Amino acid sequence: MSTPHISAEKGDFAKTVLMPGDPLRAKFIAETFLQDAVLVNNVRGIQGYTGTYKGTRVSVMASGMGIPSMGIYSYELFSFYDVENIIRIGSAGAFNDKLQLRDIVAGMGASTTSNFGAQYEISGTLCNLADYDLLSAAVTSAKELGQDLKVGNVLSSDTFYDDRPDNMKNWTKMGILCVEMEAAALYMNAARLGKRALALLTISDKPLTGEETTAEERQTTFTQMMEIALETAIK
Ligand code: ADE
Repeated sequence: MSTPHISAEKGDFAKTVLMPGDPLRAKFIAETFLQDAVLVNNVRGIQGYTGTYKGTRVSVMASGMGIPSMGIYSYELFSFYDVENIIRIGSAGAFNDKLQLRDIVAGMGASTTSNFGAQYEISGTLCNLADYDLLSAAVTSAKELGQDLKVGNVLSSDTFYDDRPDNMKNWTKMGILCVEMEAAALYMNAARLGKRALALLTISDKPLTGEETTAEERQTTFTQMMEIALETAIK
């Protein structure tokens, strides 16, 4: 069967899908962390694989970058492929000065500059939240692995390059920990479709100071975040 953006058979995806932004990351995860991984989708190079982790079926598929792309892929996985849980595994820029490069953050909430939620025609502001059970499983997994996991409100921005000089500072004043570009669409789709979602993020840069991780540092932290994500996926 095919949806507008995925070509795979029903049942090809596991109940839980891990979603990095980058298709090459999806391939790397499948080859490095899953056993017997099989390519199940490659439409537009959005690689999706299903394999097993500690004996449990787990899929990994890229979301692409930004809210529209995450909106499309998470909607189609939840609605047409019976996926129950999507865990985004991405990177983020720290706003809060207590966050260091390489820290790992779980998005308890995903505030946004996007108008994605206008489609629901609700007369107010929806709080875009992670699923509590997934969040709680991630916190437990991090503790078991001896890793520090920060939990809080993140910003899903529609812009990477933003013309408003005080934008980052104003979000920081509201307690936003860090900025990324996809979690809010994932959380809204999960809410609307009665499914479960969580975003795990590694801090790759600090836009307010200009600090950045090296490629090597990004790889090490990514592996630590993957361990949390995989243990959460099988809980
Ligand atoms: N992802 C990683 N760093 C980011 C940043 N500075 N802004 C938006 N998304 C990001």
